[in-house]
Amino acid sequence: MTKPAITFPLLFTLLTFIDVSSTASNVFNVVSFGAKPDGVTDSTAAFLKAWQRACGSASSATVVVPNGTFLLKVITFGGPCKSKITFQVTGTVVAPEDYRTFGNSGYWILFNKVNRFSLVGGTFDARANGFWSCRKSGQNCPPGVRSISFNSAKDVIISGVKSMNSQVSHMTLNGCTNVVVRNVKLVAPGNSPNTDGFHVQLSTGVTFTGSTVQTGDDCVAIGPGTRNFLITKLACGPGHGVSIGSLAKELNEDGVENVTVSSSVFTGSQNGVRIKSWARPSTGFVRNVFFQDLVMKNVENPIIIDQNYCPTHEGCPNEYSGVKISQVTYKNIQGTSATQEAMKLVCSKSSPCTGITLQDIKLIYNKGTPATSLCFNAVGKSLGVIQPTSCLNR
Ligand SMILES: *[C@@H]1O[C@H](CO)[C@@H](O)[C@H](O)[C@H]1NC(C)=O
Ligand SMILES: *[C@@H]1O[C@H](CO)[C@@H](O)[C@H](O)[C@H]1NC(C)=O
Repeated sequence: MTKPAITFPLLFTLLTFIDVSSTASNVFNVVSFGAKPDGVTDSTAAFLKAWQRACGSASSATVVVPNGTFLLKVITFGGPCKSKITFQVTGTVVAPEDYRTFGNSGYWILFNKVNRFSLVGGTFDARANGFWSCRKSGQNCPPGVRSISFNSAKDVIISGVKSMNSQVSHMTLNGCTNVVVRNVKLVAPGNSPNTDGFHVQLSTGVTFTGSTVQTGDDCVAIGPGTRNFLITKLACGPGHGVSIGSLAKELNEDGVENVTVSSSVFTGSQNGVRIKSWARPSTGFVRNVFFQDLVMKNVENPIIIDQNYCPTHEGCPNEYSGVKISQVTYKNIQGTSATQEAMKLVCSKSSPCTGITLQDIKLIYNKGTPATSLCFNAVGKSLGVIQPTSCLNR
């Protein structure tokens, strides 16, 4: 008997087959690891197994969360992984309804030290009703958890994700580099306490675009150490607007630099664009900020700088904010203010705001009297039509 020689076409077919099968083996469906799409079975261990396989894969891998509802408890997806990972969700992921199961973890779903990572699609419902009730009733409640957190992540894309009913923030970046967030929807009732939308700190090179945030606290909160952050095509409201701060919480604090908010609409929100710092000494700063092409619809404080923040009256009465604010431009901001004082630039007495530019501002107060502006320690220039009249010092 002679062995038949392997012909070239057959060898080609075999190689193609091997190639296809190795691609398929890089898809890790959580259901194959025991996750149940019934909304009640705890799928945490199954998600972790799927993640570990994907994360250890020598070539790019995909974790798939298919249709159905999956119950997930506190979970950390740890990196760095060997290859590029896509986490693709078409189903819904829900948190336990009993908020006490979270303890003091601070997060629900944490991606730690991932790089070259994409989170695509899916609905994440933290079901925080019970937690909000606890807070509203003034009981002693746990601190609450952020829904989707990224710590020390690099080269990340988050796309088409919906987060609902967070306990505190919907989505947070801490210590991250080069992150694009697009087409996400972060939703909680307007009266839900402290439910921030997107929270960024100690991070560089973040883009947040084409997203909708309707929540009970800041639509976007920008903390110390944020650099090169672009927010564009945001629909915000209800919520507390885009807020740089609160800063000066600590004496030694990193600054905020090169932040742009453009082509966005604020509807019925408490603030439009805000810079906020405690009236306390601090090494922090805010510089090179551009707010441009913004529409305000019935917003309480469309333009606001507040450096006298002192909610608890601890360590701040009779102090001035050490946070130095400079080179902030407000350009082409139009629409309606829900309060008469449409523009409020209240800066620190010890470190006044400098290099403020107002250009083409038209904010209308619709209750019979014209809108007004208020400035303290704010220095800069105005260009074009400014309504209400500029109150900057030259
Ligand atoms: C998953 O759900 C979506 C939306 O309901 C539907 O369009 C899609 O066909 C479903 N996919 C599968 C594989 O059932
Ligand atoms: C400022 O941030 C933008 C992203 O919004 C970036 O493209 C630009 O390079 C940054 N500028 C500087 C001077 O770093």
